[in-house]
Amino acid sequence: MNTKSKSGFSSSLGFILVATGSAVGVGNIWRFPYLAAQNGGGIFLIIYLLLVLTFGFTLLTTDIAIGRRTREKALNAFGAMKSKWKFLGKLTFLVPLIIMTYYCVIGGWVLKYATVYLSGCRDQATQDDYFKSFLSSHASPIVFTLIFMAITVFIVYFGVQKGIERFAKVVMPGLILMIVGIAVFSLTLRYTDSNGIERTGMQGLMIYLKPDFTDMTFSKFLKILLDAMSQLFFSLSVSMGIMVTYGSYVKKDTNLSRSIKYIEYFDTGVALLAGVMVIPAVYVFYGTQGMTSGPGLMFVSMPKVFNAMGNIGTIIGFVFFAMVTFATLTSSISVMETLVADFMDLLHMSRKKTSLILGVVYSIASIIICLGYNVFYFEFTLPNGQSAQLLDIMDYVSNSFLLPLISFLTCVFVGWIIKPKWIIDEVEASGDKFSRKRLYNVMIRYIAPVVMTILFFQSTGIL
Ligand code: PHE
Repeated sequence: MNTKSKSGFSSSLGFILVATGSAVGVGNIWRFPYLAAQNGGGIFLIIYLLLVLTFGFTLLTTDIAIGRRTREKALNAFGAMKSKWKFLGKLTFLVPLIIMTYYCVIGGWVLKYATVYLSGCRDQATQDDYFKSFLSSHASPIVFTLIFMAITVFIVYFGVQKGIERFAKVVMPGLILMIVGIAVFSLTLRYTDSNGIERTGMQGLMIYLKPDFTDMTFSKFLKILLDAMSQLFFSLSVSMGIMVTYGSYVKKDTNLSRSIKYIEYFDTGVALLAGVMVIPAVYVFYGTQGMTSGPGLMFVSMPKVFNAMGNIGTIIGFVFFAMVTFATLTSSISVMETLVADFMDLLHMSRKKTSLILGVVYSIASIIICLGYNVFYFEFTLPNGQSAQLLDIMDYVSNSFLLPLISFLTCVFVGWIIKPKWIIDEVEASGDKFSRKRLYNVMIRYIAPVVMTILFFQSTGIL
């Protein structure tokens, strides 16, 4: 409990920035563009936007309001609302537990690219197989992952507010400016391939924006829906207890409805812009085949963009990867903070001791994930047909499988057991209006439970 008084946010702006800091991370800049590209661009984009405005808003509101009203972290919050539902807090707790095993690994990749640009070796990074050979090397990914982990643990060790608030205020605006600038540059790209075909950034933009319904089947639609929904959970950091914990730090007079809108718009805006930055570039240099390349997409295409910028590309490349590293850090800190806060309560240990122990445990877990690309390499086919390594399996289990289940249970619990009014009252407790109250009601009681059920069965491969 003592974490609460220590960690309260000093202002609404502080809360918005920190929550956005958790939401904006590699999910937006790395995961969103590759999923959009894999799923054909335009259709994914429309589905994602619709989901943010309906499901995203509903889940985010639910998490934050539960946190603020119960003043508890997710692990205890559900039990505090109704003792029979304590299990839901425990189930929710599993998600950050899993995500933390691989999040710092991706952080390590980004950090590695920042150092490559810093040391001026960008020509290497521009080569087609660079990312692959980096991943399959034994030492390098582990070293960068561990550095990233150490920074995360260091900041959590000293407590949430001091560490994160200061960070987020500087990094977020800088990152946006950077992404806008690079996105504009991406649109001006032109490249003629070995077959003499010229492709332009504007053509790439059209692929990103224009929905293509040819060959659309119901099962393909469901797959896109599941990808978009799991991205939504991941990107907004919802249904995993993180926003509940942050909600518990928020003051009663903060306008929740407005804060949630900012978080939602900001997170989605960054993802959309990241798509404009990455997808046209991939199209220009690799054509539509390049779009299916999956998780490596950002690491393969961005170096090409920086290369096309000439000499200044080295500096811009460095600043870009450094900022993404910071954005990733604010997210990894939020996951670690949630875990530390929970384990402090569970094990009755101090913040410092808990941070250190978790740091060691997760360092070991992350090393195993890194080795999934070489020593422990195997090919596993996920129920959605994609071939996966350890990292992708963890990602799938948490985002595509567990999160629809947790969200389904949360919606049933809030919609039918404690009733939406409980949440609505909390949102309006500051005296401000909850402008999307009606939508919230319908979503939480009817639409979300049905869709989450479908997605859950789809994720298991039953549908
Ligand atoms: N939302 C973060 C991102 O988009 C990732 C994240 C997931 C952060 C889970 C915290 C918890 O990168």
